[in-house]
Amino acid sequence: MSVMDVQQSVEVNEEGYHEFNLGEFRFTRDEFFVYISWPTGNHIMSVDAFLRALQRDVAWDFFYGVVNFDGVFGTVNHYGTVDIFAGRYNESYRKAELDYSENVETPQIRETFKAILGDWTNQTFDPFASPHETGSPFGVKNGGNNAAVTRERVAAQRMVAVPGDEQIRTDESGFTINRMFLDVDQSEPEVRAEPGFEGELAAFNLFAYLSRSDVTWNPSVVSACKDSLFCPTTEEYILPIIHGNDRVEWFLQLSDQITWEVEDRDTGAVRSRVTMKAGDICAMPADIRHQGYSPKRSMLLVWENNSSEIPELIASGKAATYPVEF
Ligand code: PHB
Ligand code: FE
Repeated sequence: MSVMDVQQSVEVNEEGYHEFNLGEFRFTRDEFFVYISWPTGNHIMSVDAFLRALQRDVAWDFFYGVVNFDGVFGTVNHYGTVDIFAGRYNESYRKAELDYSENVETPQIRETFKAILGDWTNQTFDPFASPHETGSPFGVKNGGNNAAVTRERVAAQRMVAVPGDEQIRTDESGFTINRMFLDVDQSEPEVRAEPGFEGELAAFNLFAYLSRSDVTWNPSVVSACKDSLFCPTTEEYILPIIHGNDRVEWFLQLSDQITWEVEDRDTGAVRSRVTMKAGDICAMPADIRHQGYSPKRSMLLVWENNSSEIPELIASGKAATYPVEF
């Protein structure tokens, strides 16, 4: 699909921004807010929260399951098509029959969301950065930040450090150690392979790798073993989406602390609050949604099962929504 297929207004509004249409959804922004409307209703969000969520949805190509931008608006990935919804996972909207959703081909929503992100992000703002490390998203149209908004997540095919997946970050690569991780040991492990196994054995310092991450809440894939993906990430402030998973995922808190607000995936009813400290491990069930709060920059390892069979196994009840029977 070409950019020509994106339905964007020819004229810009008073603040200098284009208006966009996707199916029956209409998107506009002004200095502070984003306005979303659909045949049965409309919604308002702060532009910073909207752009941070939109950035993840675009970079992760709609991710696993549900990406809630907030309690009303979001997307559901069907891996080829995407539902775009308002109020679908909100009990009040459902009861009032105000919820609305449309299924669109992935390329169509991908191109539209990319175009909105490009047009509405000013040069002062990086939606992937910690709020402490970027400028303001607000105000009238002021340039753009193409380098930031076109970042994709880093994905190793095997393991970082094995031949072909040498994504070790060093000063030379331009990735400097984050201000919050200056105390992280940068030494790399020494690898001594048995004769005949040279080039097949690899190791790297994951803490050093993560200490150089310039983004927040953006898991990279550092190892892939069949469908088992290790996706570590550095976190600061709030996960910009409320993630409703279609499978179980594991969290290993590698440093510092994150508090997770856990809600029922379909209604948004509060289920629990989980505070994870360094060394804690938990499994997030497949019938919840969650949002993390990280008061200091922290390191988190997200462990995903990437099998495309899982959503159906769970939806049909053939697999449990939790991983272990104690
Ligand atoms: C998640 O939804 O599980 C998730 C997403 C992004 C992160 C961490 C966790 O950085
Ligand atoms: Fe999640």
